[in-house]
Amino acid sequence: MANSTTRQLERLRDKIRRHERLYYVEDNPEVSDSEFDALMCELIELEKSNPGLVTKDSPSQRVGGAVAIKLAPVTHNPNAPMLSLDNTYNIEELEKFHERVAKNLGEETFEYTVEQKIDGLGVSLVYEDGIFAQGATRGDGIVGEDVTLNLKTIRSVPLKAPKTAGLERFEVRGEVYLSRKAFAAINARRAKEGQPLFANPRNCAAGSLRLLDSSITAKIPLAMFVYNLIVTDKIGRPTGYAKASSQYESMELLKSLGFHVPYIQLCHSLEEVKKVIADFEAQKENLPYEIDGIVIKVNSYQRQRLLGFTSKFPRWAVAYKYSAKQATTVVRDIVAQVGRTGAITPVAILEPVEISGSTVSRATLHNEDEIKRKDIRIGDTVFVEKAGEIIPRVVKVVTTKRSGKEKVFLMPKICPVCGANIVRPAKETVTYTKNKGKVRAIKSKDVSPEEEKVARCENAACPAQARGRLIHFASRNAMNIEHVGPALVDQLLDKELIHDAADLFTLSINDLIGLEKIKEKSAKNIVKAIEESKNRGLERLLFALGIRYVGEKTAKFLAEKYKSIDKIIKEPESELKEVHEIGPRVAESVASFFAQKENIALIGKLKDAGVLTKAIIRAAQFRPFAGKVFVLTGTMASMKRKEAKSEIEFYGGKTTLSVTTKTDYLVAGSKPGSKLAKAKKYEVKILSEKEFLELLPEK
Ligand code: IVH
Repeated sequence: MANSTTRQLERLRDKIRRHERLYYVEDNPEVSDSEFDALMCELIELEKSNPGLVTKDSPSQRVGGAVAIKLAPVTHNPNAPMLSLDNTYNIEELEKFHERVAKNLGEETFEYTVEQKIDGLGVSLVYEDGIFAQGATRGDGIVGEDVTLNLKTIRSVPLKAPKTAGLERFEVRGEVYLSRKAFAAINARRAKEGQPLFANPRNCAAGSLRLLDSSITAKIPLAMFVYNLIVTDKIGRPTGYAKASSQYESMELLKSLGFHVPYIQLCHSLEEVKKVIADFEAQKENLPYEIDGIVIKVNSYQRQRLLGFTSKFPRWAVAYKYSAKQATTVVRDIVAQVGRTGAITPVAILEPVEISGSTVSRATLHNEDEIKRKDIRIGDTVFVEKAGEIIPRVVKVVTTKRSGKEKVFLMPKICPVCGANIVRPAKETVTYTKNKGKVRAIKSKDVSPEEEKVARCENAACPAQARGRLIHFASRNAMNIEHVGPALVDQLLDKELIHDAADLFTLSINDLIGLEKIKEKSAKNIVKAIEESKNRGLERLLFALGIRYVGEKTAKFLAEKYKSIDKIIKEPESELKEVHEIGPRVAESVASFFAQKENIALIGKLKDAGVLTKAIIRAAQFRPFAGKVFVLTGTMASMKRKEAKSEIEFYGGKTTLSVTTKTDYLVAGSKPGSKLAKAKKYEVKILSEKEFLELLPEK
């Protein structure tokens, strides 16, 4: 019995050691954080019930993490090892933490700080006489790696802090991270160069910080947030600092010394803590960097000292981890999906897996090249990621889990829905299209690199394309027909109640009653919504038609310039091309759309149904800002900059980014910046937020 448990424990330890090495040393994890935590929990539980079998080298006995190779080792202050945090995953666990703390302190109420848990790499910065002297990664908490030179390349790491009495020698600890934007740019470049992609910003930050050549690190826009201050004497004994007797005060002090501090809030009860946790869960995907949870700390240092540490964690702090947004799962199949423009998107059908509270069973694979580059095969175990509202995507394959039975996906040569040919623009070739009876050559230089990757079903009448076009037609930014989404469109097509967008306008209440989940009331609402959409105007109609390259902006421009669809239909391609805002690519697409008799017939049907095909022109009294140029600066209390911009445009004005002699108004919110001085120099009229709001016509 004991023998088999010993074997089980050893297997588990080996597994954990391997994942630790993959994560900490190679920056190439195969399992997600929560899977790793689950293994560690299993080990701890098993050791708890078999205390005699705990070995000194068990991963459970360590602070965590292995020491990476190559970089010079640095011993952290032995009086203050770099510990990790205990994790909680739900409110019950958090409540238990609070009960423990309250019991140990013998108090019911005390303050907590709540901070963002930055998903990066823990590092320590030592300052001597106000000068940044040494920087190290956390490593195993006792010994880390010397990355001083690399840390010096980070702009948010002050090389010098103002000399302050009592602060001759101090250490700050924090997290080096990479913004989502910088991460995306780095991966995009790596993709272009055919290099392997980083799975997430943390790995990219870790990889960049631990390079041996700091001139390469300097090219990566790493950043750092600090969350811990340790003031010491000459031999490293923590002495404290009178002006920072709590976590909150320390953070304020660090801010004043020029460090970047993550969001921190002082809470007076657990209820307040819970509220911040919930608020962040809702907003965290909108942050410019990734957080993987929230850190809750007892605020007062005196209370922290009373609580002390376990061998691995402080007893006065805990992490609240949001459920993982990455998970591993198996690709059951890869199917080709046909979009409204005929674009074929390969989609992975996944073994359903829970990510950030929802079940994921499909992920986009973008295009054929992407599948080849990531070498994703049917049967593979893959990392799947969900970022905000974005469709889940496959990050990478866990190649070590391959059995050899995986199947390579071949892009179909014919459309899986209609059987027409699938074509993909090739490089360096010439294709011929017939446009208004004339044969025209498209040279490969007309095809953008993005376009080259897309395979398309050639048949405009393909049912999958028709479905996609209908969904797009009714969508919010197009004709904005409420209640008409994919589910209803599918039923309407299935029952042959509609074939194209114009048929929507002929639907009666009786046609709709009896469809799935549709009774008289909702049928009436649908018909009403369709009726109301008739007057959206040319701008939205043009966008809704789904003409290639005609996005909302181009549709707006075309509507304003031509004012009616008939004028656009009549305009020769050669004329359209000459219009600066349109250009040859859009001109060709618009002309060829209206050269097709099916499309002209559709316009005719829309007109017959009473759909407005003219631009809505607002009379001069509704365009009070016509010809006026605005510049926006600072923060407004009542609206976002984007909203102010659209208000100005709605009333006929224009916004530009910088102040010039042509600027009419500068709208200055709070903290206006350098544009204000420039506006004064050019004698541009400056409006406060209040004055700007007064200028807007009442709605
Ligand atoms: S406090 C002894 N605060 O999360 C207290 N850690 O999972 C040590 N982290 O090792 C950490 N943001 O690398 C603290 N606001 C924050 C943090 C934070 C990120 C990291 C840190 C730590 C790990 C624990």
